[in-house]
This record gives sequence, C-alpha cells and structure tokens, in this order.
Amino acid sequence: MNKTILISGGAGFIGSHVVRHFVKSYPEYRIINLDLLTYAGNLENLKDIEKEKNYLFVRGDIRNREEMKRLFEEHRPDAVIHLAAESHVDRSISDPTEFISTNVVGTGNLLTLARDYWKGSYEGKLFYHISTDEVFGSLGREGKFREDTPYDPKSPYSASKAGADHLVRAFAHTYGLPAVISNCSNNYGPYQFPEKLIPLAIYRIMNGEEIPVYGKGENIRDWLYVEDHARAIDLLFHRGQPGETYNIGGYNEWKNIDLLRLLCRLADERLGNDPGSSERLISFVKDRAGHDLRYAIDAEKIRKELGWEPRVSFQEGLAKTLDWYLSHREWLDHVITGEYRQYYNRQYYDRPF
Ligand code: NAD
Ligand code: TYD
Repeated sequence: MNKTILISGGAGFIGSHVVRHFVKSYPEYRIINLDLLTYAGNLENLKDIEKEKNYLFVRGDIRNREEMKRLFEEHRPDAVIHLAAESHVDRSISDPTEFISTNVVGTGNLLTLARDYWKGSYEGKLFYHISTDEVFGSLGREGKFREDTPYDPKSPYSASKAGADHLVRAFAHTYGLPAVISNCSNNYGPYQFPEKLIPLAIYRIMNGEEIPVYGKGENIRDWLYVEDHARAIDLLFHRGQPGETYNIGGYNEWKNIDLLRLLCRLADERLGNDPGSSERLISFVKDRAGHDLRYAIDAEKIRKELGWEPRVSFQEGLAKTLDWYLSHREWLDHVITGEYRQYYNRQYYDRPF
C-alpha cells in the first residue's frame, strides 16, 4: 500500500461515491472512511466494497479532537479528503448549531491535526477540502461563479462552509499546509438522501404524494452527476496545485420547476402512468427563507488546466438516477423508516442498536 488516504464523510452521498471510486481505482491505496454516521451517513451505500482489502471504516466525530488525534496516530494518513459536513440548507435554517460545530470547528480540528501530525514535513501530503458553490452567494440572471468571485454566503450552511474554506486557506498561508479546495455545484445521483430536491421528488412520485416546490419554482441550480464530481476529485487529488482552488460544475442550469416537469415526464414513461399524472403532484409551497435565486459555475479552470469535463448529460444522469431509485426501493424504505441506522451494528458488531 503506497498511500493512506483518510476520507471524511465517506458514508454520505458524495463521500460514498468518492470512497468507491478510490477503493476500486487504486488498490494500492489504503482508504480509511471516517464518518460519524449522523442521519445522513449510511453504510448501506458501501455494501458492495466493504470487504475490499484496501478499505476500512472507522466511526468517529471530526469535532472530537482526542478521537481524531488517536485516529491520525493509528492510521498515519498521507492525505485527507474532507467531505464530512452537515449539508442541507433547510436544516441549517431550522438549527444552525451542528453546521457551525461540524463544518467550522470540525474542519479546524482536522486541519490542526494534519499540521501537527505532518509537522511541517509536507512532502507527498495533501489536505483536500470539498466545498460548495453556495459560498459565493446568489447570482442574478447573468454571470457565473469563478474561483476569484468574492465570498458572499447567505445561509447558515453556506456561511459555515465559507468559514471552513477560509480556515483551509489560512492554514495553507500561515503554516504552508499543502491544501486544495474545490467548490462544486449541486450534485445528484444514486444514494442521495431523500431530503434533497431530486430524490425527494422521486420518492414522492413513487408514493403518489405531493412534490413541494418552494416559491414559484423559479430558482436555478447547476446540476452535476455525482460520478462526474468523483472523477474531478480524483483528478484534483492527483494533479491539483496545492494552494489552489478549483470550481467544478455541470454547465447545466435548470429552473426547479422545469427540472421537476422533466423528472415527472421521465417517471410517467417508466412507471407506465398516464401522461401528466406525476406533474399533477407538484404543489407550490411557502418559499425557503433567504432562498438563493441562482447558482452557476464557470468551470473553465479545471477544464483548461486539467482537461476535466462532465461526461454524463442531464437526460442520461436523470434517467440513471430515476432507474436507480425505482430499483432500490429497499434502500429508500430503510432510509425512510430509519432501518439503515441499524446496519452499522449488525454489520460491525452483530447486535441490535
Ligand atoms: P451528506 O450530508 O450526504 O453526507 C455528509 C456525511 O458527513 C455523512 O455521512 C455524515 O454522517 C458525515 N458527518 C456529518 N457530521 C460529521 C462529523 N461531525 N464527524 C464525522 N462525520 C460527519 O453530504 P453530501 O451531499 O455527500 O456532501 C458531502 C460534502 O460535499 C459536504 O462537505 C458538502 O458541503 C459538499 N458538497 C455537496 C454538494 C451537494 O450537492 N450535495 C455540492 C457541493 C459540495
Ligand atoms: P436542495 O436540493 O435542498 O439543494 P440546495 O438548496 O443546496 O441548492 O434544493 C435545490 C433547489 O430546490 C433549491 O432551490 C430549493 C428547491 N427545493 C424545493 O423547491 N422543494 C424542496 O422540497 C426542496 C428540498 C428543495
């Protein structure tokens, strides 16, 4: 094994795709998946690779300094790919507490430990922070976020991610810690927790329940298939310049209402429903407080410097995502009933919760 990589948040949506990608693509790396298994962490996402020789799951809280110190000492990571976070804007509006502690304090802990553990001998080391386009705030009808767009976060979630990004840059500047940040647009795909727009809508369609659309559905997001994000992370992990930031996006802007109409049409075709039956489930509800109007990423830097581009078109990605949820009813049911939370103990301790 020529490298040990600590991936935080590997049991979440994007993290599980990143863990799977690295475990399968790099048998010579040892992948440690560190995750607290909050409501968003689900080891069922990684069933297919959990027995691989180069994979290890460790349950832990990035906010717990002593626990993280022991982890660094025991596993001696050469690199950290940091995804662990509270990630849902609506939850951050209801209660920002965990967002501040995990996203800001937790990131600060990992940075401090990486600095102390690597002790200034940074050859071959990397701290790679996975961030979001939401740190840049909200766009009007024109323009896109570039790497040098000033930060202007508007929700407790985006403010906490902006805080984490600032800490990463401060550690790079002050201690010379080799660090890369990437800011990505909205991801979608298999294993996304059904509180986010696309899987929530699919779940509601499957159950014939209302699909809640905030405000008039005019807000715009730039959607990227999650495996395209995982490929970009692989590329930046290996070829990103320490000290640099890279934007990652889908070149794929959709108004929420148009996206949902497309999804409803695709679902009706697959489910053999009368045309228009899923669309009738769409229900306009009270807008999200402080709802950002539009996000759009200018991803020219990673495209020009490293040749990355999204490979999966939206039609294809949405169809794949829909098919995945339709054929993984059990995964969804476990998430909805909370059954998935028992998987860890069954799998690792062979006893009930
Ligand atoms: P997610 O909510 O699905 O997963 C987060 C994971 O972090 C979970 O497995 C959870 O158990 C773990 N976690 C939470 N608190 C922890 C703690 N204190 N200690 C250890 N583990 C903890 O999130 P996601 O959508 O997969 O996003 C992953 C990362 O990518 C986040 O940093 C997010 O800000 C960023 N991001 C997400 C998107 C998106 O569209 N989902 C877009 C751009 C960037
Ligand atoms: P979401 O998936 O929560 O991601 P983010 O807020 O990080 O972009 O929401 C995507 C868009 O969909 C956003 O404009 C809010 C909207 N939305 C709804 O209209 N209804 C919903 O039930 C949800 C969860 C989101």
